[in-house]
Amino acid sequence: MYTTSIEKFIEDIPKAELHLHIEGTFEPELMFKIAQRNHKEIPYNSIEEVKNAYRFNNLQEFLDIYYAGAGVLITEQDFYDLTWAYLTKVHKQNVTHVEIFFDPQTHTERGISFDIVINGIRNALEDGISKLGISYKLIMSFLRHLDESSAFKTLEHAIPYKKWITAVGLDSSELGNPPSKFERVFTKARAEGYQTVAHAGEEGPATYIWEALDLLKVTRIDHGNSCLDDEQLVQKLVASQIPLTLCPLSNLELKVITDLKDHPIKKMMDKNLLVTINSDDPAYFGGYINKNYLETAKALNLSRKQITTLVKNSFKASWLSEEEKERIIKEIDFYAYQNQISKN
Ligand code: HPA
Ligand code: ZN
Repeated sequence: MYTTSIEKFIEDIPKAELHLHIEGTFEPELMFKIAQRNHKEIPYNSIEEVKNAYRFNNLQEFLDIYYAGAGVLITEQDFYDLTWAYLTKVHKQNVTHVEIFFDPQTHTERGISFDIVINGIRNALEDGISKLGISYKLIMSFLRHLDESSAFKTLEHAIPYKKWITAVGLDSSELGNPPSKFERVFTKARAEGYQTVAHAGEEGPATYIWEALDLLKVTRIDHGNSCLDDEQLVQKLVASQIPLTLCPLSNLELKVITDLKDHPIKKMMDKNLLVTINSDDPAYFGGYINKNYLETAKALNLSRKQITTLVKNSFKASWLSEEEKERIIKEIDFYAYQNQISKN
């Protein structure tokens, strides 16, 4: 018999989070506080009202509310506070490494400068290293509902900050905005030395995942649920071990699945796909990383060994150095050994 509960097993194991939109961590309490200090109106009278508004039938319904919420962020301090609140929360959940998205166009489109956004986020992330021991990489994500020229302009903004940004990504409304729309932007980004990732196959078809791989040359797919519709694609992802950053509670809230019991992650592990668990937009989808692990483990009856594999995958799929990955994976193996999980 195990001596620790599954809850505690998940809580205590060191984890990495690789699919997290910083604007999606904006909790109603902080939103009210920042709106008040910036003298901005929000269309809610109470935290209760905000939470009631968080019921979505699809990705677009969520995005409309997510962009509206982000509209109260004005100063560098706002972006710092937002990021710091996330870091302190996941620190308590034993997250030791994060690779987070920020959406500059959500802010530059309403007149906030790129510099304010990145400085606020980056200062909090740097404090996260020194005060919480959380390492990080930053991913600048293009909004795919906007046009190519806006993405090019955003890439230009990012060039002076190249040292701070590891990768570029692609998010927002997927249907009707295939990766091919941004082929030239991503080619330029790679030439500038950025890694590339893209949301693909969340609501969109498997062909969007092919485009992300073949045209955008991504090294990781965000979501990727629909890959299971295409056996040839699965074979390619398995052979290349290109990771998928899955977000179970997000999938449930955005009706990508109707029940967590239908989540494809277990099937994907059985096929040897390199899959990870992440929270996506935890303030909107009802749970940070540990809740994503726990609810998924319960719904799919995942073993502790499978949970350990998922956690190891989160580091394997990261952009940490090979030495750092080796060190942390040894630490996880030791944790599993202490919890009587066999290695094979
Ligand atoms: N999908 C696409 N765009 C997003 C998401 C998502 O889950 N979250 C924030 N922007
Ligand atoms: Zn996402």
